[in-house]
Amino acid sequence: MTDLKKALMARVQPDLEAIEAALHDNLTPHLELVREVAGHILFSGGKRLRPLLMVLSARVCGYGGNFDRTFSVIFEYLHAATLLHDDLVDGARLRRGKPVAHTVWDNSTAVLTGDFLLARALSIAVRTQHHGIIEIIAGITEEMSQGEIHQLSRIGDLGLSEADYFQIIRCKTAVLFQGACRVSALLADAPKAEETALADYGYHLGIAFQIADDLLDYTAQTQALGKTVGADLREGKLTLPVIHALAAADEPDRQCLEAIIKNTDFSESEFQTLVGLLDKYQSLKYSTEMAAGHVAQAKAALGFFDVSPARETLEMIADYALERKA
Ligand code: IPE
Ligand code: IPE
Ligand code: MG
Ligand code: MG
Repeated sequence: MTDLKKALMARVQPDLEAIEAALHDNLTPHLELVREVAGHILFSGGKRLRPLLMVLSARVCGYGGNFDRTFSVIFEYLHAATLLHDDLVDGARLRRGKPVAHTVWDNSTAVLTGDFLLARALSIAVRTQHHGIIEIIAGITEEMSQGEIHQLSRIGDLGLSEADYFQIIRCKTAVLFQGACRVSALLADAPKAEETALADYGYHLGIAFQIADDLLDYTAQTQALGKTVGADLREGKLTLPVIHALAAADEPDRQCLEAIIKNTDFSESEFQTLVGLLDKYQSLKYSTEMAAGHVAQAKAALGFFDVSPARETLEMIADYALERKA
């Protein structure tokens, strides 16, 4: 574990324990099978980043009530629901080092359990009795599905632009981070300017987090990542490093890249050739710098708040988004 991760874990330990308990307490399916499948995705080592963001954001707004940790599970249930669906759509094999739910059970069971978790998230949102919060959460689910559908519709499309990529990751990832941070300002009845600052923080963090995730697909080792390295390329999913390399490469290299991308059954040595070209055209560096720019913008948005332990933890999470290995 890196020093940053250790320091972060020490700071958030009590919140993590409360979130863990709330995740168990709020999961009350009637069927044993739903409990098993939901448990498989929910209790397999997720980082709990989204509920933590909500709890910490509530704290920087000075929230003193008892509902932040309870309501924060909305964001983990939503996340888990989308992962069940995402792994099926992506044809993934591994998540958090374990076989994905649709291979342990079957596609229908994974889809329907995802639906259950989504509905659970919405039911808890209704319990806030706050129209603005319910509206944000409903909006997130719409945008996330549209992001995933947009991505699916452009699978294997070598014409995917950087602007298209950013639109996809904003919808599929950043809106959830943004919503988790923003909702706490509403819960705390904080001034509009605080809501906006937290929304900006969450948005930039989410963008940086997804770029980092897409980089890890080229730079990590499967065992450390807990997901199969190279999976994006095998799925025909073009992400920032590849989009950059395709635009920057000379004609022979571009043809080489295209041939590897079009053949989703590429060999390990072809994958290494592609990674070599990403390196040659500084596409990994470019993507890392892009993510770092968003980390800096996320931290700058927090400048609106007085210095506090919660603000410092949110700043550390922003740095962690880029240095994480899983
Ligand atoms: C994975 O998110 C999905 C992305 C948005 C890249 P996390 O990396 O937060 O997943 P867990 O819950 O910690 O495994
Ligand atoms: C993020 O995209 C998935 C969602 C936001 C649902 P990815 O497909 O890159 O996430 P991983 O890599 O499977 O976790
Ligand atoms: Mg995926
Ligand atoms: Mg990924």
